[in-house]
Parts: sequence; structure tokens; C-alpha cells
Amino acid sequence: MTEAIAYELVGEIAVLAANNPPVNALGLSVRQGLQAGIERAESEGAKAVLIYGTGRTYFAGADIREFGKPPQAPWLPDLCARIEASPLIVVSALHGTALGGGLEVALSSHYRIAVPSARVGLPEVHLGILPGAGGTQRLPRVAGVEAALDLITTGRHVGASEALKLGILDRIEEGEPRQIGLDYTRELLDSGAPRRAIGEMPAPAPVDFDSVYAEVLKKGRGQLSPATAVRAVQAACEAESFGAGMKRERELFSELMDSDQRQGLIHAFFSERAVSKLPELEGVAPRTLKKIGVIGGGTMGAGIATAALLSGLNVTMLEMNDEAAAAAKTRIGGNLQGGLKRGKISQQQFDDLTEEALTLATDYADLASADLVIEAVFEDMEVKKQVFARLDEVCKPGAVLATNTSYLDVNEIAASTRRPEDVIGLHFFSPAHVMKLLEVVVADKTALDVVATGFALGKMLKKISVRAGVCDGFIGNRILATYRTAADHMVLDGASPFQIDKALTDFGFAMGPFAVADLAGLDIGWAVRKRKRSEGLDPRARDSSYADKICEAGNFGQKTGKGYYVYEKGKRGGTPNAEVTSLIEAERTEKGITPREFSDDEIVRRYMAAMVNEAAKVVGEAIARRPLDVDMTLLFGYGFPRYRGGPLKWADIVGLPGLLADIKRYASEDDYFWQPAPLLEQLVAEGRSFDDLNKESSK
Ligand code: 3HC
Ligand code: NAI
Repeated sequence: MTEAIAYELVGEIAVLAANNPPVNALGLSVRQGLQAGIERAESEGAKAVLIYGTGRTYFAGADIREFGKPPQAPWLPDLCARIEASPLIVVSALHGTALGGGLEVALSSHYRIAVPSARVGLPEVHLGILPGAGGTQRLPRVAGVEAALDLITTGRHVGASEALKLGILDRIEEGEPRQIGLDYTRELLDSGAPRRAIGEMPAPAPVDFDSVYAEVLKKGRGQLSPATAVRAVQAACEAESFGAGMKRERELFSELMDSDQRQGLIHAFFSERAVSKLPELEGVAPRTLKKIGVIGGGTMGAGIATAALLSGLNVTMLEMNDEAAAAAKTRIGGNLQGGLKRGKISQQQFDDLTEEALTLATDYADLASADLVIEAVFEDMEVKKQVFARLDEVCKPGAVLATNTSYLDVNEIAASTRRPEDVIGLHFFSPAHVMKLLEVVVADKTALDVVATGFALGKMLKKISVRAGVCDGFIGNRILATYRTAADHMVLDGASPFQIDKALTDFGFAMGPFAVADLAGLDIGWAVRKRKRSEGLDPRARDSSYADKICEAGNFGQKTGKGYYVYEKGKRGGTPNAEVTSLIEAERTEKGITPREFSDDEIVRRYMAAMVNEAAKVVGEAIARRPLDVDMTLLFGYGFPRYRGGPLKWADIVGLPGLLADIKRYASEDDYFWQPAPLLEQLVAEGRSFDDLNKESSK
């Protein structure tokens, strides 16, 4: 046996207990142990085998860390075939999460029992692959094609009772997996239950797979794994035999395993978990977090308060006057209504959150007992300084004072208090109760336990928290400003905002930059441009004014019904605004620019080159500690396609030397905007990748 699988003979039952923390992933030693366990049970004359997991779960899947490395025998599909072919009765007892290869091992067992809290699923498509150990062949046989297609293409987890209804489980029983498994196995033996192999069941009847494929492909917005999985399920119905179906599953699995999308999605999986693990925070206890204050109940303050209330915190919302406070409460109520409608909260919870957990205030004294206060007032340094000076006067010692500023200097804000060590940036994204990203902005004097408190709050609010340093726009908005500028340059030179948006949504972005600007409000970018101009632009910088003219006419995007697009009430999305085209043409004429054609490929290449180059500067200057911090920022705050892993993972995949060469070529037209990032030049010179930097930082 291996250490990962303990073997014990209990009467006539051979018990195989997995012990591979934290999630009993099916790595090599687990596979070897299971195979050896089955063989030993057969040779020792056992009548049945029970498989279960010790610790928090049954097998949560194949070991993802082994992906991309040469596979070592026994392979999971062969192991599953071996388990299923055993002449003994094989039973799996499930608890925790039986996912992917884990569920496939369970499906190759002859009977399955689970505790009521167990969950099962085949989430492989989220990793860019498909179930590769018979899941696409066995699940449709046992649960039907429709349920199998649903589970496999969405990757959703289902609870034990649904799994029982679907035929995935045979029984649910309260208790410990070992005990319920032993009792059930004895019962099966006593009743003379037959060996029951799903692989020997008849193939299910086919459905119209071509239309399912087309539908799933469209829904995937460029992600290939769910649609490819449809073809594997098709083989379960249409292949000549179970073996032939397994062969088809393997071919499709290998195709996806070799794909860039698999690399991107696995990078996202691990980076999402690594991003909030900071070595300097190990052993640092966060400060108490029970009562929080929010100042300013506009778009952001109301969203932040909503998120905090939903995670069980008491919130005091401070506004300028009673009227504004009432408006803030209405906004929060509106946000919570969404949850009420979708059944996420009950009417009682809604009432408790808005009437008990939320307190409205107009007097700073009401913030005296708050553990943490987040300021979300107007984006104006003088206003923010006044707010922080007041907080300094009233807040209890040790309270964390946070700003949600998008661009302003957190060091300067901190300096307006006598306790800069307690000041931090907590940059949420709009709508703050929905968007997953939180930039934790660490200023020069921020204390470590204040940083830890920022991350603790992020965790409570179920956010993906990324550490950022202080600079104009931190990680995300700084990079956004650059790639948005690249888009503006392309508009001046001949591309239309609508072509650019289309090229980028085809690339996989949730929205293009101009549609995003309409959603966020064009006044935000306008204010930033005005501020930058007032600070003095470099004479070499190409500036454009057509976007200002849209705002000057009172059009701020979706909220006013018009921006780059025109929005009609009751209709989703907008149609291109012809006035914008006229403004652009007028500016080109004024600047003497003869417009040229841009292919969609060139648009994507320039846009991505600008993004990667700025991201490399952000990492080079340690505003982001690691490339993966940038990747997660773009994924969770800016609609970057997850299946591409993030801009720096994308850059590694397409190749850094080619990208640098393109940037240098673009620099021959505009050597001010296209200044290659020193870090990018260094990596190319040393033949290294961004992911090498991620790996070095995790050592
Ligand atoms: N392989 C390797 N490591 C894994 C893993 C896996 N399948 N699943 C989780 N881990 C690791 C995580 O990276 C994390 O490591 P860390 O502590 O070093 O950061 C640790 O286990 C704990 O994971 P979480 O922090 O995510 O713990 P949670 O309790 O929040 O969630 C979980 C547990 C629901 C099991 C979640 O980890 C998960 O969804 N895992 C992935 C499950 C999955 O996708 N399985 C299918 C794999 S592909 C497959 O089976 C192919 C087959 O068809 C051939
Ligand atoms: P907003 O204009 O919607 O809300 C600001 C609120 O602050 C108003 O309700 C106003 O009454 C209140 N307020 C102003 N001064 C105050 C004071 N001295 N005391 C108490 N309340 C006061 O603004 P929004 O969009 O919510 O932005 C707030 C902050 O969040 C800004 O710093 C902004 O840069 C930042 N932010 C905005 C994002 C967005 O997408 N809107 C995204 C991330 C950050």
C-alpha cells in the first residue's frame, strides 16, 4: 500500500481509506494505492471493497498539479476501469466534495452512498478540460443524457439529495463515511446484491447533439471546453461500444489538455488561491472586525455597505445630511432587493439588514466605536483630507481608516491624520456588492496588521483581494488608463470605437472599453483627463478631445441614455451613436490625420501589447508584487477572459520576444507612448517568462 491509501480488512470487506490532505486529490500515490488495494482485496479473498476519504473530503479530483507533466501509470481512466471490472462488490462512501476524477472513481464503483452534506460534480470544463476518466461515458448512462450534459457543460456542483434523484447516488445516510459505508456494504453482501458496473449498462438514446453543441459554444463566449465536452457525451450514445466511447473521450480530453485555454484556466485556478497569500502576513493577526462605518452612500458607499451587511457586519452609514442618508438607505435597499428577488435572502433577513444591522448617521461621533471605516465620498483630495482629519478626531485608537479612492494618493490622505499607520486603501469595484475584486492599497506607513485586516475584510466579503502599492490608479486603473489610451490612438488613426469593442469581445472580454466607459459613466474618465491636463501633459503625449465633447453635450453614457452608444429604455445594450463618429471625424480633420484600416487582429495586438507593457511596468515598480497579481486584477475587475489566464499569462503563451518586437515597431510611430517596460526587456534578454517570476516568488 502507499501512505496515501490505508488498507484494512474488516471481516469480508477490504477498506481503502484515502489520506492525501488537503482534498485527497488523485495524485500518483493515491492511484497506486487504490490499484494495489483492489488487487490485494481480490487476492486476500475479500468479498467487497469500501472506498472512502479521511479528512475533509472524498477525492476532490485529479491532482491538478500533475497537469502538463508526463502522465504516470496507473492512469486514472485505467484505474477506474480496473475498479469497475473487479469481481468484488465495490462501494464508495462520499463526504465533502466528490469532484471530477473523484466522482469518476465513485461512478466506477458499483454502489455509492453519501452523507447528506456531500456534493458532487464534474467541474473539469472550468479547468479547460473535460472529464477524462469515464465521466462523460458513465454519467449519461446512470443519470440520463440531459442531466449529464447539464452537469458536465456547466461544471456545477449538486447536493446529495439532487444527486440521489439523478441516480448518481444510491443512498444518503447521516454519519461518518466509514461507518455508513461499512453498514451499507454489509447490507449489500447480506442481501446478495449483484456487482453493478455502469460501463456495462446500455448506451443511452442520443439527442440533437449538433444543436446542443452550437448552443453551448455560444454560451461559452470563446471558451471551448464545455462545447467539446458535448461531443464526448455524444460518443456515450453513438459510439459502437463503451470502450469506443472511452477512446473518443480520451482523444477530446488530450486535445483540450494540450490547449492554451487549459493553461490559462489552470493558471487562474492556482493564482486565485495564491493572490491573497502574502508571506509578510503569515502569523499576523488582523484587528477586530465587527462594526464598520461607511462614509458617503453614493454608488460605491451603498454597494460596499450592501456587501458588508450581507456578510453579517453591522454598518453605520454616514452622509452629509438626513436627505442624503435616506437616499443612501434607498440605494442599499435597492441592492438588497436583487438578493430578495433571487431568493438569496428572505424578507425577514431583508428587514433585519436594513432596519437592525444598518444605522444611518450624519454625525461623526456615531463612528466612534467602529472597528473600520471606509470612506467613499467624492473623488476630491481636499474633501477626503477633511474627512480623514475628522475621523482622526473621533475614531477609537486602533480603528482602521480606509479610503475607496480610485486614483488619489493614499500617502497624502494618510498624512492628513496623526495615525498614518492605520490608514489603507480599500479599492472596491462597481457595483461593489457584485464585483469580486478588492485592491488592498498599502501606503508607505500602513501597519502590517492593518494590511492583514484589509485582507480579512476581503475574505469576509468573499472578494478576491490583491495587494497593490500606491501610484496613480494602483494596479487596475493604471493599466486600464494605458490600454484605453491605446484604443483612443487607434480611433484617431482610423478604427471606430464600435469595431474596437467588437474585436475585443470576440477576443473574449465581457465588454469592450467603450461600452465599459458608458457603463461606468463617461464623467469619471473626463474628470481624470481634466486633472491630468491640469497637472501638465508631456508635450509628446497624443491627446484626444472627442470623448470630452461627448461629455460637454451632457452625455455620460448609460445613466443619461447616450454615450458611445444610444440606450433605449427597456432594451438591453445600445446601438452605436452616430454623433460620436462625426466628432471623431472632425478631430481627425482638425489634426490632419488620414484614417487607415485596422484589422481586428491588429486592434487586439496593439491593445494587448499596451496592457502587457504597462502591466510589466507595474510589476517592475513593485506596485504589483507578482505577475499573477496583475492577472487576477484584470480577471476579477476588468472582464478579462478567464480562459486566457490574465494579460501576463496570455503574454507568456503568445511569446514575450514577439510582443517586445511589436512594441518596438509601434514605437517607431510614437516613441513616447510605446516605451518598452524594462522588466519586459529583461525577461526577453534572459529568456524567461512572467510565470518564472510567479514561481520564484512562491519559493
Ligand atoms: N488538485 C490539486 N490541488 C488541489 C485540488 C486538485 N484537484 N483541489 C484543490 N487543491 C488544493 C488547492 O490548490 C488548495 O491548495 P493551497 O492550500 O496550497 O492553496 C487546497 O487544495 C485547498 O483548496 P481550496 O482552498 O480551494 O479549499 P476549499 O475548501 O475552498 O475548496 C474544493 C475545496 C471545492 C475541492 C476546491 O479546491 C476545488 O474546487 N478544487 C478543484 C476541484 C476540481 O476541479 N476537480 C477536478 C479536477 S480535474 C479532474 O479530475 C480530471 C479528471 O477528469 C481526469
Ligand atoms: P457618488 O458621487 O455616487 O457618491 C458620493 C457620496 O458621498 C454622495 O452620496 C455624497 O452625498 C457623499 N459625500 C460627499 N462628501 C461627503 C462628506 N464630506 N461626508 C459624507 N458624505 C459625503 O460617488 P461614487 O461613484 O460612489 O464614488 C465614491 C468614491 O469611490 C470616489 O472616491 C470614487 O473615485 C471611488 N470609486 C468609484 C467607483 C465608481 O465606479 N463609481 C469605483 C471605485 C471607486
